[in-house]
Amino acid sequence: MKILITGGAGYIGSTICSALEDKGHEIIIIDNLSSNGSKKKSCQNFYQNDISNIKALNQIESEHKNIDAVIHCAAKIFVPESVSNPSIYYEENVTKTLTLLNWMKKADISNIIFSSTASLYRSAEDQVVTENSELQPSSPYAKTKLSMEFILEDFCNAYKMKCISLRYFNPIGADPKMRSGPNFSNSTHLLGKLIQAYESEDKKFTITGNNWNTKDGTGIRDYVHVWDLAEAHLKALERINSITSTLSPFIPINIGSGTGLTVKEMVSIFEEVVGIELNTKIMEPRPGDVAGNFADITNAKNLLDWEPRMSIEQGIADAIKWYRKKSI
Ligand SMILES: NC(=O)c1ccc[n+]([C@@H]2O[C@H](COP(=O)([O-])OP(=O)(O)OC[C@H]3O[C@@H](n4cnc5c(N)ncnc54)[C@H](O)[C@@H]3O)[C@@H](O)[C@H]2O)c1
Repeated sequence: MKILITGGAGYIGSTICSALEDKGHEIIIIDNLSSNGSKKKSCQNFYQNDISNIKALNQIESEHKNIDAVIHCAAKIFVPESVSNPSIYYEENVTKTLTLLNWMKKADISNIIFSSTASLYRSAEDQVVTENSELQPSSPYAKTKLSMEFILEDFCNAYKMKCISLRYFNPIGADPKMRSGPNFSNSTHLLGKLIQAYESEDKKFTITGNNWNTKDGTGIRDYVHVWDLAEAHLKALERINSITSTLSPFIPINIGSGTGLTVKEMVSIFEEVVGIELNTKIMEPRPGDVAGNFADITNAKNLLDWEPRMSIEQGIADAIKWYRKKSI
């Protein structure tokens, strides 16, 4: 297949590119390299440009006939920044997606796999969420993702497009062959912070909040190895025509491990992997923190024939390996 990947120089986009290339697919990347630390992939068909640049999109169209699908990863992704500056998030994520979709319509590309997020869901009583669980995006960032899902659904219904919206839970780890990995410089995620604590002199790590309604009071998350996540995109591309229909051309699918891990559990797995104990302190939750959810992945199993294969320990080990590679 011939696939256009927006944001293909980022953490998840470039890992998807490697998974696609490994399977012999042709990839075209458009990325404006705005994300701190993202790097031009060694890809022949790399367009350093913005997804809202119609000229660049038209150039792609004329240089690459018959693109089979778009994987739309490009977005601004920082929750605190989206709270302080929502305008830029709606502009970058929503308005620019609209431009991309209108171009796809004109270029007659009807299939799209969208990078959505589990932060669309309201915290559930029993913590497990299906695609039909109540939505209550907790930040402007998450609201831009839900807005994009609404737009995609309407485009699919009106213009005969097809979309699988993959709602990622918490991607961790790196490409096992170390071709791509997370950007730790502005890490707000738990594993990034654990690695930073582990690499520091004092090994200090702070758990924010231990009074949630979870088994040990600390927040719960669902971690999925980024390589498993990349493989879910391959499955979605292979199956999009068979699982969508005129009546449901837009399908959201949870992509997680299907298991919830509390922060305390994650800390002790991390300590086992690295072989030392961190100097852990408990503090009050930060504004905007939530108890968290984990994924019901029945739809991913049944519709995509996808299941995660990599362990949490592997995700931690790959992330540390990538961190060290980047620090050399
Ligand atoms: N990382 C996560 O924890 C997570 C969780 C859920 C969903 N997602 C979604 O997955 C996608 C990829 O996330 P990531 O972690 O790889 O982020 P990332 O910042 O590493 O990658 C995003 C890429 O998009 C590019 N980009 C941003 N705006 C662009 C534009 N207007 N035009 C062209 N390129 C643009 C950036 O330069 C960057 O390379 C995002 O849509 C994000 O919302 C990520």
